[in-house]
Amino acid sequence: MASAKDYDAAARAIRQLTPEPPPGSLDTERLVRLATLAASNHNSQPWKFHIERDRITVLPDYKRRLPVVDTDDRQLFHSLGCAVENLVQAAAAQGFDAEPTYSSTVDGIVVQLERSAWAKANELYAAIPHRQCVRKPYDGQPLGRAELAKLTGIGRGSRAQTLILVTEAAKEAVTEFVTQGNALQLTDRAYRRELAAWMRFNNGEAMRRGDGRSARATGRLLPLPGLLARLMSKQIFDPESHSARDAKQIRRSAGVAVFVASEDDKSTWIDVGRACQRFALQATALDIRTAFINQPIHARALQSQFDEWLQLKGERAMLMLRFGHGPKAPFSLRRPVDEVIVKS
Ligand SMILES: Cc1cc2nc3c(=O)[nH]c(=O)nc-3n(C[C@H](O)[C@H](O)[C@H](O)COP(=O)(O)O)c2cc1C
Repeated sequence: MASAKDYDAAARAIRQLTPEPPPGSLDTERLVRLATLAASNHNSQPWKFHIERDRITVLPDYKRRLPVVDTDDRQLFHSLGCAVENLVQAAAAQGFDAEPTYSSTVDGIVVQLERSAWAKANELYAAIPHRQCVRKPYDGQPLGRAELAKLTGIGRGSRAQTLILVTEAAKEAVTEFVTQGNALQLTDRAYRRELAAWMRFNNGEAMRRGDGRSARATGRLLPLPGLLARLMSKQIFDPESHSARDAKQIRRSAGVAVFVASEDDKSTWIDVGRACQRFALQATALDIRTAFINQPIHARALQSQFDEWLQLKGERAMLMLRFGHGPKAPFSLRRPVDEVIVKS
């Protein structure tokens, strides 16, 4: 049986990168590995990468879609946006400007790479292997002004905006929405079944699959044999205990970032994913932790109420992160790079 030590060694190996190529020469496989370290819903890693000489196309892998929680694939495209953001930062570190554009012809994001004397590694790039979702209580302290200013500026995309909420009243209101979201989602059998299918309830299963939400990284479940755990999903995904934990975690966060946009198409979903990943990388660079709390957005019945509470006019909330200083957590796993590269 694989131990926590085996699991952590596997997670470390995934983040141990090959040496930097000489400046100005491209190592596309390295770029793809760094892209795959991005966040994705349920760690579904719904991406494929088609590599050409000076171009990488990031394609959706619809076999990995989440039809219950993500009926229209918007979260899948947010996840692709997260991977694209890592790719852009990693390309800069190799001396290349990366220009991503969504192409409806290929239904993917074409990332054109161009050598540039100005492109170089920055703190967001350095943060890529260290970024993680930390689903633990943080230290309950507010952030400093300079930290907040950096985070506020970074989540702005060409189509995305970030709202930062830090007051106790706002955190309480978000907690209430998250509680309602848990009550809706976790009492829905189809939702629980889909979530259970992506849970990796023990270290061996997590390491074999290299995807999904591992018990070790999520920190929420006792490692159990997968079949037994899936049969117990009603008990494991109990809304009340989840909400009690979420409430404590939101109250002990410094604040909440909501990523909003006015358009509602694939290009926008990608841009929102990019903004969110950039925010998480900047937070990581500042030694600040982040975790998603998307329940009021994913539970469709709550979405318009949540947008109204945020006083959005013609925009809608698409993703939400809590943030704050706090402990680290075990890292999530990834599939081998070979599995995500599409050969021409
Ligand atoms: C679009 C999107 C939606 C997500 N939704 C949730 C969520 O509702 N709850 C949660 O705990 N994590 C959520 N996540 C985080 C993923 O579960 C996480 O990125 C994945 O397990 C990989 O772990 P890592 O980010 O620590 O590498 C989401 C991530 C993305 C990109």
